Amino acid sequence: MTKKVLVTRPIPDIGIALLKTRFEVTVFGPAHGDIQEALADVIGDYDGMVALLSDPIGERLLSTAGKLKIVANHAVGYNNVDIAAARRHRVMITNTPGVLTNATAEIAFALLICLARRIVEADRFTREGKFVGWDPLLLLGDELAGKTLGIVGMGRIGRDMARKCRAFGMKILYHSRHRIDPEIEADLGAVYCAMNDLLQRSHAVSLHTPATPDTRHLIGQRELECMREDAFLINTSRGEVVDESALAAALQNGVIKGAGLDVYEFEPRISSALLALKNVVLLPHIGSATVETRNKMAQTAARNVMEVLAGNPPPNLIPEMADLF
Ligand code: GLV
Repeated sequence: MTKKVLVTRPIPDIGIALLKTRFEVTVFGPAHGDIQEALADVIGDYDGMVALLSDPIGERLLSTAGKLKIVANHAVGYNNVDIAAARRHRVMITNTPGVLTNATAEIAFALLICLARRIVEADRFTREGKFVGWDPLLLLGDELAGKTLGIVGMGRIGRDMARKCRAFGMKILYHSRHRIDPEIEADLGAVYCAMNDLLQRSHAVSLHTPATPDTRHLIGQRELECMREDAFLINTSRGEVVDESALAAALQNGVIKGAGLDVYEFEPRISSALLALKNVVLLPHIGSATVETRNKMAQTAARNVMEVLAGNPPPNLIPEMADLF
């Protein structure tokens, strides 16, 4: 009998088409809105599932998913999944590492250059008809060359950000759970340092850690106070890594100079304090949002489902499950 796969919400057609070569496929919900209860009512019929980072995958859903073998998360991050529950129900969880590295590092870099060269502010100024002539003192920003970037979390995306910023003449410091291979450090021109040291010395701090209980509020009031007054904070990882109300206060009070955010602590809600500030650039979680990358993410998720439902190990099983299957 043809196996059934549920895709929680629309994803690029290329992934759906791949799944349809083998399975009966249902794209269940609209792009937004709460579908959790409705999902729990039907998931018992499905063998595989593709979920988004905004879909909570926990005990309530998995306990009704009697046939389910895999949830392929259409994202590299999987903090939407209760891993202990997935282990209990022996449902494999996969993600989409690698394919979004460049796109996400590009958006982190874009946020950095937007802040340093005041791009969003300058665009607004021009549209408002305020450009009345070249002015040696107009909208002066900061040059990146010669400045220090502090990278927190030196995985794939952190390393790619290091490469991009080095090409722009920046010095690179990093802090990570594990120090990386000295040869890679040398190749990236990156210097390992303690978190406090990184915060004190960097003109920009870019966050590239996963969201785990250990990284929740990794950047709070104390850390913000350690940073330079002329520093920028960039977050393209997960909102929970930053204490958003402490960040809004720090930006209001000139503790740091600015912030560039693609992710939010209570996503998709953004605190009104942040929305009211001029020294932040705010994006709607579009780190991986390029045609190329989103197509690859959809194909990667589909391939993981195909392998598991064919009885094979999936290419991108999350490391926390490596011992189970
Ligand atoms: C995006 O944030 C992802 O985790 O893929």
